[in-house]
Amino acid sequence: MILDSITDCIGNTPVVALEDNLVPVGKKLFLKLDYFNPNFSVKDRTAFGLVKKAMDRGELKPGGMAIESTSGNFGKSLAMLGAVYKFRVLILVDPKVSPSLLKWYKAYGAEIEMVTELDEDGGYQKTRYKRVKELMSQYPDTYWTDQYDNPNNPSIHFETTAKEIVDLPIDAVVGAVSTGGHLCGMGRFIKEKKPEIKVIACDVKGSAIFGHPFNPYLINGVGLSWRTENTDLSVIDQICIASDQEAISTCRILAKEHGIMVGGSGGLVVVSALSFLNHSNAKSALAIIPDTGINYLDQIYDDEWLDLKGISLLDRRELKDAIDNKKFDIPYELHLSKSWS
Ligand SMILES: Cc1ncc(COP(=O)(O)O)c(C=O)c1O
Repeated sequence: MILDSITDCIGNTPVVALEDNLVPVGKKLFLKLDYFNPNFSVKDRTAFGLVKKAMDRGELKPGGMAIESTSGNFGKSLAMLGAVYKFRVLILVDPKVSPSLLKWYKAYGAEIEMVTELDEDGGYQKTRYKRVKELMSQYPDTYWTDQYDNPNNPSIHFETTAKEIVDLPIDAVVGAVSTGGHLCGMGRFIKEKKPEIKVIACDVKGSAIFGHPFNPYLINGVGLSWRTENTDLSVIDQICIASDQEAISTCRILAKEHGIMVGGSGGLVVVSALSFLNHSNAKSALAIIPDTGINYLDQIYDDEWLDLKGISLLDRRELKDAIDNKKFDIPYELHLSKSWS
């Protein structure tokens, strides 16, 4: 098939069954590998949706400029789209970004600004956010994609990603949350069309999205020190919190024993999905894998880096124990309004 543009390669990602004895007997775990997008992450979908809407409305034009604060993947996608549609891209990053990502942005011609000041939570997300606001008041014609609160983020997943999964033979969809865009966009569609499919949100221990105190954590892309407008609690059935150690150990097993190399948030959704299958009557679950481990060869796939960060890998038996002992909950705000299921 000959396609017109690299943007036609976004979406329609493959789904692979995981054959592993951590999957309970008689049950199925499927992985939707969103690293089969042009920049190897789910964020190609999000960025394309936001850019397309902004261009359709005339808010972003060739020769104009788009700005965003990103921990990594969204910036790559936006930078690629800047090259395709001929607008300038300014990306705000922080010191957690990997050096190869910076080269990636530059390869597409994007401009970069790094914030270095820690915010009051000990992370950088709020500092980046504050800097975007400053730049927007300095350059009012700039388009801020605002993946955190722009409703067109979940909308693109409602319109596209959800349609790729809703007819699969699944009892649950398990996804990582940061902006909440991809999981809650899909979740809204699922709740409209097939409400019997459970929507399970996973977050990393240390993130404050679901009301826990914020503490810095290692894996990238997932979690936040606050909750965005795009995290729609009404479409989430249950939440699962897993640690850096559990997520990274799962990543290493997936790579070494299955040839599936995922990013830390991919490990997080897989360990959460395994736990959900263990703790529920669900016969099958679909884990959305947001990105590839290629992004983290110098981090979670590097034993010296793990030593430096004080992470010891769990072996299969220890991981099985962690899966067995994991607790599921509903978002605390919903305790009063939703019955436990
Ligand atoms: C690797 C990775 N995992 C998970 C997420 C969370 O996705 P969302 O922002 O749609 O909640 C992101 C988003 O940046 C990501 O890059």
